[in-house]
Amino acid sequence: MTATSSASPAEKRLLVTGAAGFIGSNFCHYWLKNHPQGTLIAYDVLSYAGNRHNLDGLETHPDFHFVQGDINDAALLESSLRAHDINVIVHFAAESHVDRSIHDPDAFIQTNIVGTHTLLKVAKSLWLDGPEGPVPHRFHHISTDEVYGTLGPQDPAFREDTPYAPNSPYAASKAGSDHLVRAYQHTYGLNTTTSNCSNNYGPYHFPEKLIPLIIVNILHNKALPIYGDGQQIRDWLYVEDHCRGIAAILGEGREGESYNIGGCNEWANIDIVQLVCRKMDALFAGNPRWAEQYPQAAPALGHRSEELIQYVRDRPGHDRRYAIDAEKITRELAFAPAVDFPTGIQRTILWYLEHPQWWQQVMDGSYRHWLDTQYGAE
Ligand code: NAD
Ligand code: TYD
Repeated sequence: MTATSSASPAEKRLLVTGAAGFIGSNFCHYWLKNHPQGTLIAYDVLSYAGNRHNLDGLETHPDFHFVQGDINDAALLESSLRAHDINVIVHFAAESHVDRSIHDPDAFIQTNIVGTHTLLKVAKSLWLDGPEGPVPHRFHHISTDEVYGTLGPQDPAFREDTPYAPNSPYAASKAGSDHLVRAYQHTYGLNTTTSNCSNNYGPYHFPEKLIPLIIVNILHNKALPIYGDGQQIRDWLYVEDHCRGIAAILGEGREGESYNIGGCNEWANIDIVQLVCRKMDALFAGNPRWAEQYPQAAPALGHRSEELIQYVRDRPGHDRRYAIDAEKITRELAFAPAVDFPTGIQRTILWYLEHPQWWQQVMDGSYRHWLDTQYGAE
């Protein structure tokens, strides 16, 4: 990518796409905690994974706005950007679940590739092609480590110059969007940055993903499905650290650059599931309140949560290992994760225990239909 020294605007007025999803909502809370008077439009279509309640509490900020809209809707995007003189886009909106992309890839192409392109076109027309010529701006694109493909046990971790080799339809659609962002910077001079992050965990994580699925299933005394041999490795980062990394890039990240963000925290799936099981058992043993609140939970019934582990058919094309080399963002932007894994996982489990109304209302009819499709009807 052509690197220039163009910074993002000093006074940032943000439009955040995918703002009602897991990471987008955490980012909105993080940003407005640190910029309480800041302008922020939370833009989200509210698909099954988007939840307006994830943004509860932000209305108290004087310049916070929510717009329900699709990133494929160029007219609504344009009017939203104009209405608040937005000069920074932080683009999270995506179809994000690998298993769903295997069952039904079309939505991934439409949102992740076509939708990202629509957003780029709108940003270009407003920020580069207006009557007064180019205006200061920044387009930050959120991507994933999955675009780099899979690693063997001894391979070095992914760097920003690791060749792209996406394996799932999800990863391929994210790779396509990354290339479009790159092309808009290289060809038209749009001021873009991209971050490729490892697996996130924390509050508001939709319970179709591994860690929240395990927590919620233990609370229902349901099987804990482990794909294949459970030895696949992921690099886990607490979501607030991801948000801090993005904020660092918005601050000092260089135009046209990509930054890998990771936790330096590799875990095999089976080990992480066993860890969550032990933590849940310890929390129930330490406080009778949890057994009273969740009488159906495995530890409330006197079982060890681990007994629920069940090996199931592997994910087709399942990537074996992801690992991030975060040397660039550490060196250039002095970024390092602040939340260690034992602290983050304890916080996350407690958040789910304390917010049953949140995960109960997201587990609606369409979510149950997905569980039947993926794991079989019970
Ligand atoms: P998520 O599924 O929880 O949230 C995605 C949000 O995008 C939802 O609120 C959804 O309603 C919204 N959305 C979907 N289609 C849309 C459309 N057409 N128009 C507008 N909004 C739309 O996903 P997440 O885990 O928060 O991921 C956010 C971003 O971070 C994605 O781009 C993902 O690829 C990337 N990422 C995720 C992880 C992870 O571990 N979860 C890791 C690295 C990168
Ligand atoms: P997931 O949370 O879907 O994230 P990603 O596929 O983006 O890494 O899955 C994390 C890992 O956990 C992945 O290797 C697949 C595995 N997994 C299971 O073993 N069982 C499950 O029920 C789920 C959802 C995931």
